[in-house]
Amino acid sequence: MAAANKARLVVLASGNGSNFQAIIDACESGRLDAEIVLLVVNRPGAYALERAASHGIPSRLIDHKAYADREAFDAAMAEAIDEARPDWVIMAGFMRILTDGFVDRFRGQLINIHPSLLPKYPGMNTHARALEAGDLKHGATVHFVTPTVDAGPPIVQGRLEILDNDDVESLKQRIHGVEHRIYPLAIDWLVKGKIDFDRAAAQKSPAVVDASGALIVPPSS
Ligand code: GRF
Repeated sequence: MAAANKARLVVLASGNGSNFQAIIDACESGRLDAEIVLLVVNRPGAYALERAASHGIPSRLIDHKAYADREAFDAAMAEAIDEARPDWVIMAGFMRILTDGFVDRFRGQLINIHPSLLPKYPGMNTHARALEAGDLKHGATVHFVTPTVDAGPPIVQGRLEILDNDDVESLKQRIHGVEHRIYPLAIDWLVKGKIDFDRAAAQKSPAVVDASGALIVPPSS
């Protein structure tokens, strides 16, 4: 049973769910005053389901392949999410493009994490693209979701320096470490009312956390 005073989170995932785990850990340790009331996954066998089970978190599998089109799938998702009465809906490696209708319905409540310093590298293969471009820095961005993929108002970015010997795998692993720090942090700011959609949309640039986890640019007030 969800505690009445805690922020209610619904998490959407498709696979491993290491970001989901980071949010679970932050909730369980009390660093985050929130409760995950539901995990929704769209792929049978997603490891995130096992993580939910071992932490007593309710989960639903809504397999997109069982639906005729995106609208029908998104309607089923929206119904499941509404039943859980979330304050925020957290996309944590959810690998489906959502319809504009779904995104608009959860506007201001729906956030995502993307493995690049947006607006650089929306879409796939971000680590390879950063390496190919010879970038000196790479990172991850937590942002509000809008109909244009990976383009919604950013909340916080985690940055690290690309090392001479980095390859796609090493970079991906180090970026995951960054993600696990900034996602619970961004949710904490939402829960505490330090940021919302309109403020995120109005700020010139997002808050920034460096590789050590230090906040080098605070959220704008
Ligand atoms: C992360 O890199 C996230 O930025 C992207 O999908 C990946 C999910 O990883 N959206 P995990 O399932 O949380 O381990």
